Amino acid sequence: MKFARLGVNIDHVATLRQQRGEYYPEVVRAAEVALATGAHQITIHLREDRRHIQDHDVPTVHEMCKKMGLPLNLEMGCSEEMVKIAIQERPEWVCLVPEKREERTTEGGLDIIDSINYERVKKACDDIKAFSPTTKISLFVEGTEVVLKKCLSLKIDAVEIHTGEYARDFLDKKDLTPHLANYRQGAKIIKEAGLGFHAGHGLTFESLAPLLEDAQFEEYNIGHWIIAESVFIGLGHVVKEMVTLINKYPLKG
Ligand code: PXP
Repeated sequence: MKFARLGVNIDHVATLRQQRGEYYPEVVRAAEVALATGAHQITIHLREDRRHIQDHDVPTVHEMCKKMGLPLNLEMGCSEEMVKIAIQERPEWVCLVPEKREERTTEGGLDIIDSINYERVKKACDDIKAFSPTTKISLFVEGTEVVLKKCLSLKIDAVEIHTGEYARDFLDKKDLTPHLANYRQGAKIIKEAGLGFHAGHGLTFESLAPLLEDAQFEEYNIGHWIIAESVFIGLGHVVKEMVTLINKYPLKG
């Protein structure tokens, strides 16, 4: 039997680290834990403003992935700077995403219908394929028919569907049928072309379930919720350990 793959996005471990300007929590340790416990790949987003993942994290996390024999998926905008970094690092996967400095997270998929944007994305794909031929490329896009058909004209290996709106509607208890129907139609277009069909953004244990039941996506990249939930899974253990340590030292007097 085949199952979908999980890419764990560890950007927000870096968010915590950067917030304090400390060396911890270590991003590479998060990569090791995720890969050792069943994640199929690590996803990191090197943003133009370096708000979480830093340049030095890219080779460090990549080394850990190589040590564990699993792929690194480097998310990035289509700028020349980022393409250069990808060509130098040669990750197993690059996921090209739209990027605006002022956004909190990646809002929406790449606009490849606009001809200027299309050319930028095309150049990024062509350059990566020319100078790092072993790197596979996915495009982070909305799952509409027109966008997915346009994707087929680019040198890519997969698309990652932006599930942000689906996840929002799930939380708001709205009807998910149109999203699921759309994903089924999208999967047909993409899989018939021999490309991978991935998903990501805003997913939680609960909102993942209907997608798993529908079984269209071969890979999910999930970050924010996994890191957030990990706080509660881990908090009790760490508090216990800290109290145990304190209780080894009775107060004097
Ligand atoms: N996939 C892509 C392309 C993304 O940009 C993001 C967010 O950085 C994710 C997946 C993960 O989204 P979330 O952190 O909401 O799970």
